[in-house]
Amino acid sequence: MLNNKTILVTGGTGSFGHHFVSYVLKHYSPKKIIIYSRDEYKQFVMQNEYKEYAHILRFFIGDVRDAERLHRAMKGVDYVIHAAALKQVPACEYNPNEAIKTNINGAMNVIDACLDANVKKVVALSTDKSVNPVNLYGGTKLVSDKLFCAANAYSGNDGPRFSVVRYGNVAGSRGSVIPFFQNLIDQGETVLPITDFRMTRFWISLEQGVELVIKALEDSQGGETFISKIPSFTITDLAKAMKPDCEVKEIGIREGEKLHEVMITAEDAPRTYEYEKNYIIYPYYNWWSDSMVVPGGKKVEEGFEYSSGNNKEFLSVEELAKKLKTDLDKH
Ligand SMILES: NC(=O)c1ccc[n+]([C@@H]2O[C@H](COP(=O)([O-])OP(=O)(O)OC[C@H]3O[C@@H](n4cnc5c(N)ncnc54)[C@H](OP(=O)(O)O)[C@@H]3O)[C@@H](O)[C@H]2O)c1
Repeated sequence: MLNNKTILVTGGTGSFGHHFVSYVLKHYSPKKIIIYSRDEYKQFVMQNEYKEYAHILRFFIGDVRDAERLHRAMKGVDYVIHAAALKQVPACEYNPNEAIKTNINGAMNVIDACLDANVKKVVALSTDKSVNPVNLYGGTKLVSDKLFCAANAYSGNDGPRFSVVRYGNVAGSRGSVIPFFQNLIDQGETVLPITDFRMTRFWISLEQGVELVIKALEDSQGGETFISKIPSFTITDLAKAMKPDCEVKEIGIREGEKLHEVMITAEDAPRTYEYEKNYIIYPYYNWWSDSMVVPGGKKVEEGFEYSSGNNKEFLSVEELAKKLKTDLDKH
């Protein structure tokens, strides 16, 4: 579906953007991919990395806070992936206005520009932190998710279809637990701190994140939230996988930290369908009908919750050690 199409990726120089661009260039023949982000240096570096695709890639300097610039960038675009965000929890707590301007006002600007340019489909990246949020990052992403789902009301019959993809911390991404442990191990630490021994997380690679976005582009009809089916692990097992002879010490849960990541709440269950590789939460719209449900799924049971704590699939220490070699985000 991406062959001969023009795709714009906000935040295209970030971890997701890099992987998305590589994936699309490998599997499709797009007409154009527009990278939309602020920092000229990151764009310069990426431009050099993808020199052989100079005829396909376009680098637009722009801020999602700048509605006018977004309007200009959207001209002739078929598909939009909205990945630009402020995403570090402490930075968003300390700079709440900035988090709101980028993650909420930016989302509104992207939606308006997509509507005005009549793009075909828009997929916005979300996070588990937007589910029952306990910090401002999660709060801003919850608002952003709501904005994207609600935007379908303005699309009319043949306007853009907006949907959301939700996933948790990508394995190895900046600021996450793997680089944190690695840094301690590199400094010769033998005791790794764990906030709570019961803590679990989901394991998702960037590749899986990109594949879910492509799935959303293919299957969405407007308002859905797509969630991957992925394994969980305990942080204690992760520590053992990274340094088999390490000791672990419990240091107490941090403010705003969750014991388990939740992707689907019991409140979402009545609108959630399970598929072979993913879940889809369908929207509450009066124009939505069951005939719009993607075939091949099964409605989840009442009270179903998808959390890293109650997941059916857990990675063992050995499996984690293998994944640490193959799955890590290098950007
Ligand atoms: N990484 C994870 O573990 C994870 C997990 C779940 C969800 N997500 C979501 O996935 C998305 C992408 O994350 P990522 O890991 O790729 O983030 P990232 O590596 O930090 O990249 C963020 C991108 O957004 C751009 N950006 C930031 N502020 C901008 C603004 N105001 N206007 C335009 N561009 C802006 C950055 O470039 P400039 O600084 O040059 O503008 C960069 O290209 C985010 O929405 C995030 O919430 C990430």
